[in-house]
Amino acid sequence: MKKRTQSIKSPLVIGNWKLSPATFEEAIIRAKEYTQLSKKYTKLTIGAAVPFVFVSELKKRTKNLCLVGGQDVSVNTEGAYTGDVASSMLSSAGADFSIVGHSERRASGDTDTAVATKVKLIIDSGMRAVFCFGENERDEGGDYLNIVKTQLLAGLSKLEGRDILNVILAYEPVWAVGRKSNIAITPHDLHQMVIFIRKTLREKFSTSVADKVTILYGGSANPENAESILFEGEVDGFLVGRASWNKESMEGILKSINGKKKIVLSLKKKDKKRRK
Ligand code: PGA
Repeated sequence: MKKRTQSIKSPLVIGNWKLSPATFEEAIIRAKEYTQLSKKYTKLTIGAAVPFVFVSELKKRTKNLCLVGGQDVSVNTEGAYTGDVASSMLSSAGADFSIVGHSERRASGDTDTAVATKVKLIIDSGMRAVFCFGENERDEGGDYLNIVKTQLLAGLSKLEGRDILNVILAYEPVWAVGRKSNIAITPHDLHQMVIFIRKTLREKFSTSVADKVTILYGGSANPENAESILFEGEVDGFLVGRASWNKESMEGILKSINGKKKIVLSLKKKDKKRRK
């Protein structure tokens, strides 16, 4: 099994390239821009979740200046599954991580059970799993919290031992993802959700382990909102779709958060009070 050697400095910003760019030549240009940005903004980690066919070459070209990963893996490990890519294949092609459970994959049929299997396969193949979850919409009764909790616990249900430390959570409320809404969550609402996610993790894992897990936010993150979302939302970084496809907007995000840390104190204070 490949070792997870590349260390991650917080904040972590992963560009989700989705079905882009159209050609290998353009992918090389974009990867080059990412490595330049990584040299310029040294107090953070940049990652690129790219189409499978680009992984191997982009991993070589980015020379460990940026993490390179895939966007999904097969629920199967080998056999008659035309079109699938197994986690072992992705890992041996050089990927550092894979996204799993993205809402666009869930919309194409990924169930919570399939996502849990994939999370485990990704980790067992030596990569980190960038595990996406999030509600489709917010209802006034607060049912969305149950939905988030169910997705989160289901996705982590097959983990063993210290596997959780190789999971990067990506909270992506579906209503905020993509062109249709173009509205990110408010920092305040995100903060509430991050507290809820950490609490859920603590119920399943030890407090020290749960507090170490990286939580990213995804959904219409852009240069204008990144700083306040990171600070006030208390996340460790972003999974960025559209704004990561363009050098200027990717740079805008990086520039606004380079070397900045979320303010964890408020969470700890609140927690202490709660425990008393
Ligand atoms: P968006 O996508 O930033 O374009 O909203 C985020 C994602 O799908 O990961």
